[in-house]
This record gives sequence, C-alpha cells and structure tokens, in this order.
Amino acid sequence: MAYPYQIASLLQYHEFYKKSVEDPEGFWGEVAENFQWRRKWDSVINWNFKEPKIEWFKGAKLNITENCIDRHLPAKAGEPAIIWEPNNPEERTRVVTYARLHKRVCQFAQVLKNNGVKKGDRVCIYMGMVPELAYAVLGCARIGAIHSVIFGGFSAQSIADRLEDAQATFIVTCDGAYRGNKDIPLKSVIDDALIGNKIVKKVIVYTRTRTPVSMIKGRDVWWEDEMEYAETQVEKEGVVSFPAEEMDAEDPLFILYTSGSTGKPKGVVHTCGGYMVWTNYTFVNVFQYKPGDVHFCTADIGWITGHSYIVYGPLSAGATSLMFEGIPTWPDAGRFWEITEKHKVNILYTAPTAIRSLMGFGEQPIQGKDISSLNTLGTVGEPINEEAWHWYDEHIGKKTCPIVDTWWQTETGGILISNLAGVTLSKPGWATLPLPGVQPVIVDENGKEVTEKDEDGMIKGNLCIKAPWPGILRTTYGDHERCRLNYFATYENLYFTGDGCMKDEDGNYRITGRVDDVLNVSGHRIGTAEVENAINMHTGVVESAVVGYPHDIKGQGIYAYVIYNGRMQDMDQIRKDVNQTVSRIIGPIAKPDKIQFVSGLPKTRSGKIMRRILRKIAEGEVSNLGDTSTLLDPAVVDEIKNGKI
Ligand code: WT7
Repeated sequence: MAYPYQIASLLQYHEFYKKSVEDPEGFWGEVAENFQWRRKWDSVINWNFKEPKIEWFKGAKLNITENCIDRHLPAKAGEPAIIWEPNNPEERTRVVTYARLHKRVCQFAQVLKNNGVKKGDRVCIYMGMVPELAYAVLGCARIGAIHSVIFGGFSAQSIADRLEDAQATFIVTCDGAYRGNKDIPLKSVIDDALIGNKIVKKVIVYTRTRTPVSMIKGRDVWWEDEMEYAETQVEKEGVVSFPAEEMDAEDPLFILYTSGSTGKPKGVVHTCGGYMVWTNYTFVNVFQYKPGDVHFCTADIGWITGHSYIVYGPLSAGATSLMFEGIPTWPDAGRFWEITEKHKVNILYTAPTAIRSLMGFGEQPIQGKDISSLNTLGTVGEPINEEAWHWYDEHIGKKTCPIVDTWWQTETGGILISNLAGVTLSKPGWATLPLPGVQPVIVDENGKEVTEKDEDGMIKGNLCIKAPWPGILRTTYGDHERCRLNYFATYENLYFTGDGCMKDEDGNYRITGRVDDVLNVSGHRIGTAEVENAINMHTGVVESAVVGYPHDIKGQGIYAYVIYNGRMQDMDQIRKDVNQTVSRIIGPIAKPDKIQFVSGLPKTRSGKIMRRILRKIAEGEVSNLGDTSTLLDPAVVDEIKNGKI
C-alpha cells in the first residue's frame, strides 16, 4: 500500500482514533516512521498548555523539502508534481515534474544564498499564483529561511506592518499578477510598502505581466537573471544539487499572518517536523489520496489552505497538485469544470462561497463538460449551507463523490475535524468526526465541559481541544504571551478555537461560526477591530462599529455603523471614501458591504459598545433586541433601527 497509515475503513478509523488518544507517543511515532529524517527524535511529544510549550519529535533533524521532493525522485522524477493552469485559458499550461521541481527549488535556494539570505532570516513572499511562488516557498524551506507569504489582496500598509512585525529582510515578488480581467501591480505595492523601511536588503522580482516597474539599484534584482546565474552553480556535469539545510524538527518553517479580535494581525508560527507530519497525514486520510490522482485545491497560497493542501501536504505525499492562477468566474463561470475536464481532476477542494457563487449561474456552465474524472469533493473555510452542499453533491459530484467538510484554522496547520472520503459518513453541513489525535471538547462560558443535551438532543457550546496534535501553532511571532492569551488563557489547559459548535448523538460536530469578534467573509478571516481601526483613519470619522451579517454569497458581509462629523456632502461619495480608506489600510478584501451613518452607538454606562444589538439590527432582526436597559442612551437604538440599510 502506498501509505501504510491511510485509514481504510470505519472500523479502522475507530481503532486508530482510540490508539491515538491512549498512546499518542506510540501512534505518532509510528506515523512519523514514514518520512525521511536525517536523525530520529529523542521524544515524540513534550507539552503543557500553560506556557504554552509544545514540542513534537524533539531532537529530530530533517529538511521538509527532502520529504516533498528529493525522496520522490527515484520513483517519480518524471511524474507531475505541479500542474499549472494560467489565468487566461489560451495561454499554455505548465507541467512541473518532480525532477523539474527539484531543479528549480535548488536553483532558487542558490539564488537566496547568493543574495545573502541565511537560515532563520524572514523572507516575505508577495506573488501571484505562478509555479515560481511554490519554488520560492520551497527554496526558503530548503535553506532554512522562514517564509511569510502575504496574499496579493493586502495593501501596502498591511505589508509594511507585517514586514515590521516579522523583521523581514528579503522580499520575493512579481511585477504583477493576473486575476480574472484584472492586472494587479504587485511590485508597485511592494515599493509603497518599502517607503521608510530600512531593513529590507533585497527584493527579487519575477516577471509575469511585464507591467513597467521601478527597479532600484542595489536592492531590486530580477528573478530571471538570478536564476540563470544560479543554474551554473547548482548544475555541474548534469547533476543538480543544492544541499538542504539540516533543520531541527522544532525550527520555524513559516509565519502566516491572520486576524484576531484585536486590531493587529498575529504571525502564526508553524515548525518543520510536526507541520510536515500533520499536513501529510491529513491530506492522505481526509481526501483518501491515491497515487496518480490529480488534486485541485482552489485556494491561494497566500492563505493556510494553499500552504497545506497545494504545497506541503500533496508534495510530501508525492502527489500531483493542480495550481490555478485565476478565478472561478473568468472568462466565464465554467472555468473550474473546463479545468477539471482538461486535466482530469480527481479531487476538488474549494470553498462554500465559490460553490454558492457558481450555483448562481445555474447548470449551463457545467453542460457539455466531462467532469467524470472527479471522485472526491471537499469544502473548507466556513460552514456550508445545505442548499450549497446538495448542489455540489448533485451537479458536480453527480451523487457519486463523497464530500468532505473540513474544519480547521490557520493555527491548526491542517484539518482537525472532517469525514474521511468514502471511509466515514458524511452529513450535510457537518464536519463530523475528529481526526486521530484530535480531542475536541465543548465547554460553556466558564470552561466547564457541557454534558447536558439541548431540547434538540445536541450538546452546544464553545469548541476547545484538549491536547496537542502535531500541526498546532507553536507561538505567535515575536510575542509568545500574545499566543498564550489568545488561545490558551480563555480556558485553563485547553486550546480555544474561537468557534461555536454542536455535537449530535453520534459524536458528529457541526461548527456554527465564530463566537469572538472575528468575521468570516468568503472564507477569509477578518477582525472587526481591524476594520474599525481602518475606518476610523478617515478624517471625518469619529467612531465606528463593525459587525457581520448573513450574505448570500460571501457567507458573512461586513456591516459598518459610522459616526461622521466631517463636512456633509453627498453621503454616497463619503461611503466610497471610507471604502477607499479601508482598501488603503488593509486591502480591498476588508471593504464594508454596507455603511450606515449614525449619530451615536449603543453603549453601556461603562462605555462598551453593545455589539449584540448592532449585530441583530444588521441581521434584520429588529423586534427582539433583548435587554437594552443597561444602555446609556436607549434612544439611539431606535434611530439605528430606522436607518437600517
Ligand atoms: C475559521 C478559520 C482552515 C482554512 C481556511 C480558513 C471557519 C473553517 C470550516 C468548516 C465551518 C469553518 C472557522 C474557523 N471554518 N473551516 N469546514 N466549517 N467553519 O482559515 O482564516 O484560519 O479561519 O474558519 O470559523 O475558526 P482561517
């Protein structure tokens, strides 16, 4: 069997699950035997959630790129590692074999070295979805530099903040990126982000759109020139080599920024050994990957889903990973199905928001396309509504493909709760069962485990996890205390997810959404405080409050209540200015969908904004607002209700 740790039956799932809880050392020690280590571990796991201190495979030495590339070369040199589909369907597809991937990653590692990058340095990667993005990520991993990929939709200000927080000294970017009918001028955004920055030493620029860019002598270099030179260094007498840096299992692999309930994004840190084992294990088991299958994860590598299920999970399993540069609706809403037919995609992993958006175009875009190669479907990022689930099942899976609903987070590194395709049962709208090694617990506000069922037979509360799995975050970059406060301090000795959930009588979990001040817009996490801070930067804004509301396509939309005392002009124009301000400060992804101007906000006597009330109004529930007696000025609520948009 290709993966001895692949779970083959429901019975085996229960057996493995039991063992993983009763003997985690034995269980994970055995799974870890299936990887290539330069040196084995002294201990499988040491942990306490108090500090927190979490170490997996302590003492082990490895390089993740040897596991993702080198070890597959004897059997798979000529097999596709990455199939790349361009934004424009008329442009040529690129197929990157494992041999080619090895060469390019070695070359790029050499480029990094030539430019002065050293083990432990932070390298910010701001690129479109081109194979070179994967080379950049893996090139960093090969020399032990810590990559921090930033999604192309973030603004110069957001990049500047992240560069500063990570103390990044190198940047890899593109001149521009193609997405649908847009060209995004990435290098020019980087140039803005670098105004006043004194620590970035080099910017490596890959040519994709050939949009004019400024190139600063001594700082900016072209990817192509650097790669050409490096080729002569890594390829001697036909042999390609760039020795992979030997890393400790607990050395950081990457930082990925994500939003929380406070204003500033946190740099989630994942390490080499545990993250590798977890992404591989979950990839192989959840999707039930079989060698030769084409796996198409539609996420961007700027998010954790792309890190784990386009790059590290599939490649460490020797899989074929399809990488798509564009968007589902361009040139038309049949793009995913055209790609599926063209590349004979077997596994499709996408977000509920994409499914809902495609559902809106009806069946016409699917007609005439042969998508019968599909055997497994997946969703991630937000709860999936039953209507979308059934549409996916019927029109895409033709009722023959299992759908895995995978619940996880940036902080968890990989999937924690999901059915296993064709092995454990699916239930529409439910993530179902925890993976081996994952011990969920549902607690009430005081951290007490909920054991009483509700009237509907469900156990409901806040979702926590009792013990670490190999892919759990280790810290937040540069601020360990913040990591403790955010995840390990709400409830003693538990990892708190920030999600609410329910559990049925069969032990299935359904995630109902965030219980903190974090929004999930099109599967992207956005902190309300962050959006408020951005809105408040607008000259005329006195104060604002941001909440989520149900949105047909995005899952959640952003609703902003804004107190404005600037010169009164056309209010629609001011809305646009506020949106432009948010775009500048965070990025277009954080723009409010609705802005309501108000004269005051509902506050308690101690000055706390009553978001519960604002949320209800935004949701359209105006009759039952609950207790408003503690409000400083109850009259403001009526005004807000009447002005709802
Ligand atoms: C939050 C994490 C995990 C990669 C993409 C998002 C929500 C994620 C599901 C799901 C219900 C889900 C949760 C979680 N979420 N997957 N299958 N069902 N909710 O990563 O930006 O770190 O966001 O996304 O609320 O906490 P992220």
